[in-house]
Amino acid sequence: MEVLIFDKNESASLYAAKIFAKQIREKPEAVIGLATGSTPGLLYAELRQQHEEKGLDFSGITSFNLDEYVGLDSDHPSSYRYFMQQALFDHVNIKSDRVHLPNGMSDDVPSTCVDYEKSISAAGGIDLQVLGLGSDGHIGFNEPSSSLASRTRIKTLTQETREDNAHFFNSADEVPRHCITMGIGTIMEARQIVLLAFGKQKAAAVQQVVEGAMSAMWPATILQMHPSVVVLLDEAAAASLEQKDYYREVADNKPDWQRI
Ligand code: F6R
Repeated sequence: MEVLIFDKNESASLYAAKIFAKQIREKPEAVIGLATGSTPGLLYAELRQQHEEKGLDFSGITSFNLDEYVGLDSDHPSSYRYFMQQALFDHVNIKSDRVHLPNGMSDDVPSTCVDYEKSISAAGGIDLQVLGLGSDGHIGFNEPSSSLASRTRIKTLTQETREDNAHFFNSADEVPRHCITMGIGTIMEARQIVLLAFGKQKAAAVQQVVEGAMSAMWPATILQMHPSVVVLLDEAAAASLEQKDYYREVADNKPDWQRI
């Protein structure tokens, strides 16, 4: 796990965009895994800008989002489909038939979940996955106690997550109780993972993910088992890390060939 600490989240987001742009240039038909929420906003803004100004080409790209709320259709302004259209899809040349989010309006959720897994496999698996981090340590919406081997399925959101996400709704009560999320086993099959975490409300979860013991109670700690994860943090999210100086030393002394 590579841990990079930036002075502010803008710099971390620019770095994440560099990783994505490199992936897209090196493999124009790459499969990318996308997250929603507050964290990846600047990453998507930078990718939009690179598309506009540098011709970053999404025409061959396939995408899979991590999750969607159950019961919200794509026109609902708090649905993740709506979020993605506004944040990225409407502004770049990604093909609409190559964009995938779980269908939160499905009347057969188990089949929808199986089909989502099949679509990811049929596309060749995810090359590069971006993740945000819940303050309770979730990735996707794999809440504490999720099986570390889970696949795409329905999950019940914790009260903490519903309160964290209330700002996308009128109140926490309006946040749906259920979502469909890629499982932890699904996420772990991505070939490369970029985890972003910003702000002091993420510091405890970040400390567990990087330095804690692996546990279903902090689902993101499974990332310690993944061979290619980069964790991009701002100072506030990194505040509780015990080995901060070491991570900085590693970053400062990286061989040139490892830099992007
Ligand atoms: C969203 C997702 C979640 C968020 C996490 C952090 O697609 O999968 O895991 O990444 O809840 O949310 P924000 O970024 O709003 O703090």
